[in-house]
Amino acid sequence: MCGIVGYIGTKKACPILIAGLTRLEYRGYDSAGISTIEKNGLSLMKDKGRVKNLNNLEGIDNLEGTIGIAHTRWATHGKPSKENSHPHQDNSKTFSVVHNGIIENYNELRSFLESNGYTFYSQTDTEVIPNLIHYYFEKDSQDKSIMRFLKAVQKACLDLKGSFAIEVISSLYPDNMIVVRKDSPLVIGTCEDEKYISSDIPAILSYTRDFYLLNDLEFVLLSRNEARFFDSNLNEIKKETTNIEWNASSAEKEGFEDFMLKEIYEQPTAIRETIGSRISPDLKCEIEELNVLDKAYLSSINMIYIVACGTAMHAGLVGKNSIEKLCKIPVEVDIASEFRYRSPIIDEKTLCIFISQSGETADTIAALKLAKSQGAKTIAISNVIGSSITREADFSIYTHAGPEIAVASTKAYTSQVILINILAIYFAEILGVCDSNLLKSLKQEILDLPKKVEETLKCDSQVKDFSKSIYQEKDIFFLGRGIDETVAKEGSLKLKEISYIHSESYASGELKHGPIALIENGITVISILTDPNLVEKSISNIQEVITRGAKTLVVTNQNLDYSMFDEVIKIPDTIPFVSPILSIIPLQLLAYHISKEKGLDVDKPRNLAKSVTVE
Ligand code: G6P
Repeated sequence: MCGIVGYIGTKKACPILIAGLTRLEYRGYDSAGISTIEKNGLSLMKDKGRVKNLNNLEGIDNLEGTIGIAHTRWATHGKPSKENSHPHQDNSKTFSVVHNGIIENYNELRSFLESNGYTFYSQTDTEVIPNLIHYYFEKDSQDKSIMRFLKAVQKACLDLKGSFAIEVISSLYPDNMIVVRKDSPLVIGTCEDEKYISSDIPAILSYTRDFYLLNDLEFVLLSRNEARFFDSNLNEIKKETTNIEWNASSAEKEGFEDFMLKEIYEQPTAIRETIGSRISPDLKCEIEELNVLDKAYLSSINMIYIVACGTAMHAGLVGKNSIEKLCKIPVEVDIASEFRYRSPIIDEKTLCIFISQSGETADTIAALKLAKSQGAKTIAISNVIGSSITREADFSIYTHAGPEIAVASTKAYTSQVILINILAIYFAEILGVCDSNLLKSLKQEILDLPKKVEETLKCDSQVKDFSKSIYQEKDIFFLGRGIDETVAKEGSLKLKEISYIHSESYASGELKHGPIALIENGITVISILTDPNLVEKSISNIQEVITRGAKTLVVTNQNLDYSMFDEVIKIPDTIPFVSPILSIIPLQLLAYHISKEKGLDVDKPRNLAKSVTVE
């Protein structure tokens, strides 16, 4: 959460910073600000509200500086206000700092600084950072070199507990910028005489494809044509760039009204990319990145945990079904924020799989570190090359879904579901514990899915029409059995996130044990029916709500007597292992159209952020 951009080069920094912030706004959007190095010192322009408000600030058009830092905020400490907006400055206004993350010991540091005469204007944790830098800078007055600046930033950062990605500029060093990260994302894009800094790759993808990926507590001293890297003791280190294949236009809307709709429609392509060469046309399955996990190791595993948050956790639920059925290994799916505090039983016979689109979710990273420390092998499934979880895990496999910008995740989910199914097939083949005909048909189904997703997307106008009949509802229920229950959960989450309609998802058979008390005349109940073995029982459950006056929408691939339902969305048939990839699509579209019908900001729903880098 919070987005950081920086620029150091030959062009005016301000427009580049605002453009970068606009692209990063999905990370947080309650206030924004920039600071540049001008001839007469540091500029500072900030206010509460969206990034576009920056353009209205007096004097912003006069900024000439070619070095600057910028921030879009998702408030943690202190309400959204001008004072609490970033950048923050020290008392002498020598240093400007933007920060993403949380400084856990800021109270202690604030008292320390106050006892040394510093004063504070905001309620943020961040404001201690520029003052701490100033404190150390002043203590080192002998050194006149650039190292004095670097040492002050290093000393300040070593005092900080918590997570941070920081950019610092100073009026005393008009040609430089220092950046550092710990448990919060930050990348540096590099061209010959320009450096672009960002929390996320897509925001600066139109300028460069060459990126430096930073490890925790690596300090970077930037000038226009050089990036020098230092470890936490300030020993200089070498770093290579990583070339990112993502296409810049994939981070643009390309004619779609919203990123979410574009990303829903990108699913056939995203899934093709995820499959890649992992399943060949002659149905060979290979996950190169995991090829050291041999039969001896896989046979020794007695438990798999899949750990993730939000939508990624729902992909994990689909993964549990596939791994247990194909590999015959018990799987538990955990919400990352709960996992570490419930003392999970982990040893070297445990395999832990962490799923995260961004690869930066703080709870997921913390859970991964715990699993590793207790001897488990760890696999990261992520969409972002070089992201924190991929660098922390023993093995990483990428979804290759392309940048996902809308806060509500769509194509990342379906790509995760595909990838975890491929992983289940891959392990099952090594273990030799599953009927080979089943594996063969599943592989064929996976190869056929992109076409079937294209087919499914044709329900868009039907869904849009239906959304008009329910967009004013206050409560909506989602039901499903087996694999369909996982889709009910994800459909319900999508709806909550972007339409602000309260919704509940339930296992169809569980409804009668309590929640059915809430079913009354006219309430909408959405059911997913894709597993032929469970259809009859699920229909009985739908009958129970119809009897109590519910309006029903059914998403199904089955040929049923549709007359008992109010609306039926027919999707292509596939096998239950991967049916969530098709059945979620009408529900993604439903959430989208309801949100539009209500006139809401689909891509930036209230209170949410795309990448949750605080625990
Ligand atoms: C946030 C986002 C969700 C996402 C979750 C996990 O809550 O709003 O869309 O599913 O984080 O994100 P990750 O990047 O770890 O998949």
